[in-house]
Amino acid sequence: MQATVRADETSVFPRFLDLAYPNIERGEGVWLETSDGQRILDASSGGAMVACLGHGVSEIAEAAARQAEQIAYFYNHHFTNRPQEELADRVIGLIPEMARVKFASGGSEANETAVRLARTYHFDRGHRQRWRVISPAQAYHGSTLGTLALSGRRRSLQHPYAEYMPAYLHIPPSTPRLDPTGEKALEELDRALKEAGPDTVSAFFCEPISAAALPAYSPPDRFWHGLAERREKYGFVVCFDEIVTGMGRVGSWLAAHQIPFEPDIVTIGKGLGAGYTPLAAVLCREHVYDALAEGSAEFDLGHTWDGAPLPCAVGLAVLDYIERHKLVDRVRERGPELKAQLAAALKESNMVGEVRGRGFLLGISLVDPRDGKSFLPHELDAATLVDDIAFERGLLVSSTHSTPDGFAGDEVLLAPAYTSTDDELEEMVERFSDTLEAVENAVKKKL
Ligand SMILES: Cc1ncc(COP(=O)(O)O)c(C=O)c1O
Repeated sequence: MQATVRADETSVFPRFLDLAYPNIERGEGVWLETSDGQRILDASSGGAMVACLGHGVSEIAEAAARQAEQIAYFYNHHFTNRPQEELADRVIGLIPEMARVKFASGGSEANETAVRLARTYHFDRGHRQRWRVISPAQAYHGSTLGTLALSGRRRSLQHPYAEYMPAYLHIPPSTPRLDPTGEKALEELDRALKEAGPDTVSAFFCEPISAAALPAYSPPDRFWHGLAERREKYGFVVCFDEIVTGMGRVGSWLAAHQIPFEPDIVTIGKGLGAGYTPLAAVLCREHVYDALAEGSAEFDLGHTWDGAPLPCAVGLAVLDYIERHKLVDRVRERGPELKAQLAAALKESNMVGEVRGRGFLLGISLVDPRDGKSFLPHELDAATLVDDIAFERGLLVSSTHSTPDGFAGDEVLLAPAYTSTDDELEEMVERFSDTLEAVENAVKKKL
């Protein structure tokens, strides 16, 4: 097959119709290889923070093959299966504050399920007026209409689909720039609760540590304490989207384990299947489950692949691998040094506002080099420039351009596989620092 494919050369409906897509033929560890033999260092776990064990781990592939030979699929509606039962037990064993697990195939499905679970929890307890969801703007929770509505990003993500969005409420996010203490976000939350009528609110939905939107940022403790007070007072539930941060990415099984707050419902995803199968899950605490058990005794939603034997067997093999190689410890212990190495390599740059890190989730906020603090002009689309120039240097990173929404500018995310060696991490830092130098030179010419 040819090395790159353009839209006019394929039957595939590509995401960007004006882009030539390189063809990746194989992967091993943190290296991807194109069909013309180019090697790319993968600093973002396949580009979407998924492949946390690296590529080509044969024991995961073998576990998938064994399960597929035995039985790959049947519908959860009628039966259960050993991999689903065992995987649920294992997940609860690692996250014991949660009581139940419902599997899904991806992050958007899991998040929609969480919204519906929160609603059913209230409905079954007789609080039928509770349906509204409040979430911080400047987030990403998925691309289905329900999850797109959770992100408050009117200009960058929801356009031109805003007409389809449910009337959720949004608060401006707490960010280091706009609300360093978390107090403003709490005031906004009070305003939103008042506007909605607090007894109509079903859930507050957020990422405890932000992934793509503001990588590795978490609001200060004051915000979490204030959120807990309001949950207690008004009776809504809190859902954490840990599709990216869950299963070790930030150096603990959940990001929630690093902040002073216990959510009622949590979604996990990417690291659970590690890129070897589509797999995600919704976890809930006992009181959420009990409301349904004592109420309608039914949670009537399901997708075709939820809890099927094949993805769950892969999830078990992934967990075996993470635990046997003590990868969560490795991420927790190595993360701070990785952040320090990155910050040191970027310290001469006038375009870096902040370097953040939690485990193997790292974020770099880009700023206008003319004053070292403003967002870069929207029309430059520096995020795309970073990804393109990194790719030319054989490096895969993932950047977000959310300047139009006004809460954050261009953000670069690095999320290496937990299995990356010290040498590979150093190489990622080096290639990224070269990339940013080239981006800065290109940007300065355009300013
Ligand atoms: C924080 C977060 N939530 C949800 C999703 C949606 O997951 P999916 O693309 O699997 O539907 C993503 C995807 O990147 C994400 O980063």
